[in-house]
Amino acid sequence: MAKAKTKSAYVCDECGAEHRQWQGQCLTCKAWNSLSRVNIGPVAEPGVGYAGARAEVKRLAEVATAEAPRLVTGFGELDRVLGGGLVPGSVVLIGGDPGAGKSTLLLQVCCALAEREAVLYVTGEESLQQLALRATRLGLPMAQLSVAAETRAEEVGSLIESTEPDVVIVDSIQVMQLESVESTPGSVTQVREAAAFFTRLAKRTGTVIVLVGHVTKEGNLAGPKVLEHMIDCFMMLDSPAGSRYRTLRGVKNRFGAVNELGVFAMTDQGMREVSNPSAIFLQRGDVHSPGSVVTVTWEGTRPLLVELQALVDQAQGGYPRRIAVGLDQQRLSMHLAVLHRHCGVTLADQDVFANVVGGVRIGETGADLALLLAVLSSFRNRALPRELIVFGELGLTGEVRPVANGEQRLTEAAKHGFKQAIVPFANRPKKVRDGMTVHGVKSLSAALEVLDTL
Ligand code: TYD
Ligand code: MG
Repeated sequence: MAKAKTKSAYVCDECGAEHRQWQGQCLTCKAWNSLSRVNIGPVAEPGVGYAGARAEVKRLAEVATAEAPRLVTGFGELDRVLGGGLVPGSVVLIGGDPGAGKSTLLLQVCCALAEREAVLYVTGEESLQQLALRATRLGLPMAQLSVAAETRAEEVGSLIESTEPDVVIVDSIQVMQLESVESTPGSVTQVREAAAFFTRLAKRTGTVIVLVGHVTKEGNLAGPKVLEHMIDCFMMLDSPAGSRYRTLRGVKNRFGAVNELGVFAMTDQGMREVSNPSAIFLQRGDVHSPGSVVTVTWEGTRPLLVELQALVDQAQGGYPRRIAVGLDQQRLSMHLAVLHRHCGVTLADQDVFANVVGGVRIGETGADLALLLAVLSSFRNRALPRELIVFGELGLTGEVRPVANGEQRLTEAAKHGFKQAIVPFANRPKKVRDGMTVHGVKSLSAALEVLDTL
């Protein structure tokens, strides 16, 4: 950063862009009347950056590598996403829709953790009575957990300095307000400065600070880009509409693998861990219909079995619809073009709908082949074998490309009783698998030929 002589800057509440001078319209996002003045001087502590250390040059080898032990939360699914527990002095941001279960999960974690460590739960949204009521109803141990209802960030800061907790929850960052910043609570400016304030505090004191963040209407955390570079770990708690399952997904993690997936169920006893997620996403009824196929996706460090469904139906009106839920819509359109061009199956006059059962979102390309086979199965009104598993990436030339961790995917499928598999040629197992016939295919047309023999 350039040496800042100015003591204040004008920051847009909508997008977080910084301006030297006040003006009526933000130059970046063109919002009107969204700039507010931020005092940079008093907020920043002289000579202390985000990393919390004063400037000093050392040889890398001299830096002590003895890692402080991680605080294991005791919730396996949360520890998994964190990469093995909370790292002292780190800042974790948990985002999600209102009602996703962030407060419930953190209250459960805190009550359990407080038996071993000093934990402070700062609530800015709910009253202490509400918090206590919830803890009582869930039957959580309440004796050791410290709580405070506070929205002034500086006050929270002094509470942390004076009580020296190991772990602090700030629920939520959007309601925190720094007196030195002239901007309404919840604005990008406030959120950003408050997060920076807590980050410096965490680094200086070695406290773990967990920030809770709500997602805005646009599906963004207020100012996600301005927060992401400060915090160490960012995870999203997703709540698929109508489902009681919640997925906790790592988006950024300085201390572990990113894209880890933890699965929870919201029950009347609070959040429960789901340690065998394949089993819940695979609850299939007895009726076996065309358009359904099971694939194995790879989530972080483990395989996950999910059911894909497709429905192909005569289009009403001129323009056929392509709708994908939990999958990439553009990839669906692309695959339909591949199907037409390389296998001569045209769906130009058909609506195509695709869905991932259980509200899981698939971000990887390993589900390509399975998706197309589900579409074809619905189109031909022919069910695929029930014990068939399919995975593989599809290229534009109609080739089936290998995916990572093929062996582990097959092992997971075998564990759940699948007997047949259509997989990329390069992913076929080196030795014969007991109880499972694996067909390695190099192209989409080869996959269709295999399908005809099953
Ligand atoms: P909450 O943790 O308050 O969500 P967030 O902090 O992410 O906004 O969760 C609230 C929702 O969870 C609410 O819709 C009720 C539901 N819930 C249960 O189903 N069971 C429970 O035991 C609890 C405490 C909440
Ligand atoms: Mg809450």
